[in-house]
Amino acid sequence: MSVSGFCVKLFHVKTELTSSPGRAARFIKAGGIVAFPTETVYGLGADVFNAKAIAKIFEAKRRPADNPLIAHVGELGQIDKLAAEVPDAARRLFESFFPGPLTVVLKKTVRVPTIATAGLDTIGIRMPSGKLAREFLAACGTPVAAPSANLSGRPSPTTWQAVFEDLDGRVECILQGGATDIGLESTVVDCTGERPAVLRPGSVSIEELQSIVPEIGSHQDNRPSAPRSPGMRHKHYAPRARVIVAASPAEIADAGNAAYIGIEMPSDNVAKMLICSSAEEYAREIFAFFRECDRAGIGTIYCQRVEEKGIGAALMDRLNRAESR
Ligand code: TXA
Ligand code: MG
Repeated sequence: MSVSGFCVKLFHVKTELTSSPGRAARFIKAGGIVAFPTETVYGLGADVFNAKAIAKIFEAKRRPADNPLIAHVGELGQIDKLAAEVPDAARRLFESFFPGPLTVVLKKTVRVPTIATAGLDTIGIRMPSGKLAREFLAACGTPVAAPSANLSGRPSPTTWQAVFEDLDGRVECILQGGATDIGLESTVVDCTGERPAVLRPGSVSIEELQSIVPEIGSHQDNRPSAPRSPGMRHKHYAPRARVIVAASPAEIADAGNAAYIGIEMPSDNVAKMLICSSAEEYAREIFAFFRECDRAGIGTIYCQRVEEKGIGAALMDRLNRAESR
């Protein structure tokens, strides 16, 4: 298959499972691709400056070539290698939220190969806070370009087993950590326009962002001129089962082959259900629940609507996308 001019043949590779970040980093240094845990979801990484290795990511995930990757840094000093300019708003975001579940889009340097950014002259930069991610990035010694480690269109993986389910035989190594803490992908903020704007909601909420940079626009602002996150055009986060976002647990029909996830108990019996004690827990569990339902052959998954504040905004974004697929 040809991705942006690179011919990559990914034969069935042996996927090594390891819990050693140093061992996983050796694959990156050798031009391989490695799935690794972060505090949000598992990522599928390659050396950001190695265009051939990055082409393998697109091939392994079957990711559309027009969807740019996020560069993960282990230390703030690496940002200068990636970003041509760092506006004041971005600097304030780094100070407040790095390391953490926030991606900041900036103008890229010429050193970053365009395959990593899907031809854009900008690059998303994030410094994960997960312990294993930080040890892995330190051992790599280079920024690591990484999308979520799922097959394109599938729910993002929150366990190494979910990565294995999608990518066994397609990646050189999986760094095995526990289940991820947050369960939804990072908040993406574009800092290249006149006014910074959220492109994808995540666990750093709009309220938290605006407390540091008041002028940040929310992802719901209707601004046709605003830059879009290319990934948001693609189908995402969807299980094979039909997803219905329900305002109340009383909406459940077809309960025979249905599943339910929410905060309140459903009124009907369902084949599978998960009651969460908070929106945070709901967010942490949703993708694993989608995958579990698919394995169990569930036909319809009812997901209770939550209030769109804090992580609830990101959770509702993912649920709405899964429903409208
Ligand atoms: O939490 C996360 O962000 C996870 C972990 C692994 O870090 N990564 C992740 O990557 O979710 P991915 O590729 O699945 O989603 C990246 C999103 C996509 O919607 C993509 O279009 C957007 O970020 N993005 C990346 N670079 C961009 C850029 N230069 N301009 C606009 N949007 C960008
Ligand atoms: Mg993804």
